Parts: sequence; C-alpha cells; structure tokens
Amino acid sequence: MRFFNTAGPVNCQDHYCIPPLTRFNLPEILMLIKQKKYFVLHAPRQSGKTSCMLALRDYLNHEGRYQALYINVEIAQTARNNVGRGIKAILSQLAHVSENLFSDPSPLENRASIFEENGEDAALGVALSLLCRVSTSPLVLIIDEIDSLIGDVLISVLRQIRAGYTKRPKLFPSSVILCGVRDIHDYRIHSEIEKEVITGGSAFNIKAESLRLGNFTKEETRTLLLEHTKETGQEIEEEAIKSVHLLTMDQPWLVNALAYEACFKIEDGIDRSLPITQSLVMEAKERLIQRRETHLDQLADKLKEERVRRVIEPILSGEGKPEIIPEDDIWYAEDLGLITTKGQLRISNPIYQEIIPRILTYST
Ligand SMILES: Nc1ncnc2c1ncn2[C@@H]1O[C@H](COP(=O)(O)OP(=O)(O)OP(=O)(O)O)[C@@H](O)[C@H]1O
Ligand SMILES: [Mg+2]
Repeated sequence: MRFFNTAGPVNCQDHYCIPPLTRFNLPEILMLIKQKKYFVLHAPRQSGKTSCMLALRDYLNHEGRYQALYINVEIAQTARNNVGRGIKAILSQLAHVSENLFSDPSPLENRASIFEENGEDAALGVALSLLCRVSTSPLVLIIDEIDSLIGDVLISVLRQIRAGYTKRPKLFPSSVILCGVRDIHDYRIHSEIEKEVITGGSAFNIKAESLRLGNFTKEETRTLLLEHTKETGQEIEEEAIKSVHLLTMDQPWLVNALAYEACFKIEDGIDRSLPITQSLVMEAKERLIQRRETHLDQLADKLKEERVRRVIEPILSGEGKPEIIPEDDIWYAEDLGLITTKGQLRISNPIYQEIIPRILTYST
C-alpha cells in the first residue's frame, strides 16, 4: 500500500507521487544535454531535486543515447578543507555508482593508484576521463548536493570539472548537472589554501544555465492528495485540499507531511470510512509544528545566520522596507526557500510563518 513519503526521494511504486519528470521542463533539459552544456539545477531543501535527478538518470539510461551517472557528494562534506580526503571520498562514490553502469570490473577499481599518480588536484578529472573512455555513449554526470562541499574541496571539484570541459564528449562528461540548494554563481567559497574568497562564478565559469525547481503547482498538490483517495477510497473534502494548499503554498515536503499526518497518524484520519476534513488538516499542522520535524529544524539552523536574520526580522516585524535589505541577502533567503519575492516580500508559507517567530524566540 502506497503512502505519502516524508523521508528522502520519492519512489512512485511505494509512494504517492507526481511523476518527477513532469516537474521540470524535460525538453529544455534534453536540449541542454544535446548541446553538451554544463548547468545547474537548484531548489530549496526537500523540494524534489534528488527525486527529479534520479528519474532523469533512469530516463537517459533507458533511452540509450547517453549513459548517465548520478553521484551524491555529501559524503565529502566532512572533509571540509582537506582536498585529499574529499576527492578520495568522491572517487569511491564514483567507483561505486559506475560499477552498476559499466560491466565488471569497475573502471575505477584502481582508484587508489589514480589518486597516487595524479594527486588530489587532478585525480577526479582523470577518473572522469577514464569512465568516458569505457562508456559506449556520451556520459552525463549528475552531481547532487554539490553545495554540501566546503572551501577547498568545493573549489577543487569545480576546477577539475572545468579543466576537462574542452575534452568533452569523448574524454570528459558530455554534460554535467550540478544540483544543490543555491546557484553556484552565488557561492562565496573561503579557500584556506589561497587565503581568499573564490566566487563560484570564477571557479566554474563554464555554466550555461541555472534552472530552478519550483514548488508543486496548486493542481499538483490536489493530484497528489487524490492519489490517496484513488488508493484507499477515503474521501478528502474540498475544504481540506484547499487548506493543505494554503498552509503549505505547495512546498512538496510540507504537502506530504501534512497529508501523512492527517491520513496515517491521526486516529480519525486512519479510519478510511471517515472523510479527511479541514479540521483534521489543521490538527495535523499543529502536530507537525509541535514536533519540529527535521525539515522544520533545518529552518532553525538557517535562522542562526546573520544574513538570513537581516531579511526575516524586518519582514516579521513589518517594519523593514524591502529596499533597505541587501539584495544579495534577499536572493539568499529566497534560494533557501524561506521567503518569496513574488508580489510582496513575505515568508514562503503560513507554516514557516508560524514556526519562524517561535524559533527566533527560543534562540534569543
Ligand atoms: N515527485 C514528487 N511527488 C511527491 N512528493 C515529492 C516529489 N518530489 C519530492 N517530494 C516530496 O519532497 C520530499 C523530498 O524529496 P527529495 O529528497 O527528492 O528532495 P530534495 O530537494 O533532493 O531534498 P534535500 O534538499 O533534502 O536533498 C519527499 O520526501 C517528498 O515528501
Ligand atoms: Mg536531495
């Protein structure tokens, strides 16, 4: 029996889902890939980036014109500024995923010697070239959680990819998609080694485009909720659907979390002979806020940052004029998904609106 997923990427066999490939402009992405472009896909936390990228990988591999590899480089985050450690972690991840794609043995079986012979500043580039050599069709590399990397490791990864760019498509990935919360262009990366701040734009000046994955549409929220009715026969009242939309403004994780709480946790909601009502949705919202699930906790983390507070506090007090908040800070808060700049500057949705002041009160 399927359910509303609130932990990690969706899998349409197990979870109610909006088919991930319909959530972005697939023809546009395929065009960029055809043009051998390197580009960025970014969106706030838990909005479906990984689900979309995994679906894209499978689509490309199934279609057959490309071989697509997906890696998540989050494991290299703890290396911080230690480039050697970071690159080794990424190489082992790359070896692991390429085992599935290429026939045994993995082309990166000897990654330790690749690292020894080429050093930390070149080993990743060499490994990627090696994969392209054995690939029967142009390689598309999807790198997820790129902005979990810090300092010199991030700089090194970006530069090694940039250095191979001119060798594509034969000896380097034909396309690279960098996936993260922020647009790479806006990174200010503190280099311990060079003792200066390197901007993402300068370390990776080959980026062709930045695509942003949005929230669900109102229609998608509705479709997702009605998946539950299709599966179980339980009615979800129109007013309840409307409340989910209004409370979450269609933020994908919030929609799932609210619906899961209402349909799978609250006693009256579990009884499939009773409809899901607006008041059940309101109760679900209260419970979510009380529990401060991981997603909401991540907000708390962001609110510790001075530049985020510079934007949020004036919005909450209603005193600040948007024109005196630094524009960079507004973009940052918007990339994080905390605020929306559409129309009036405001907090993204009523659930954040309710929880943010509480977090700020606890932490002062
Ligand atoms: N296509 C979809 N259909 C239904 N729900 C979805 C879909 N995509 C994402 N979600 C919801 O968003 C949550 C997060 O999905 P996913 O892990 O793909 O996002 P992400 O942006 O990669 O998150 P993170 O920032 O944590 O890496 C899922 O657990 C689910 O609640
Ligand atoms: Mg993800």
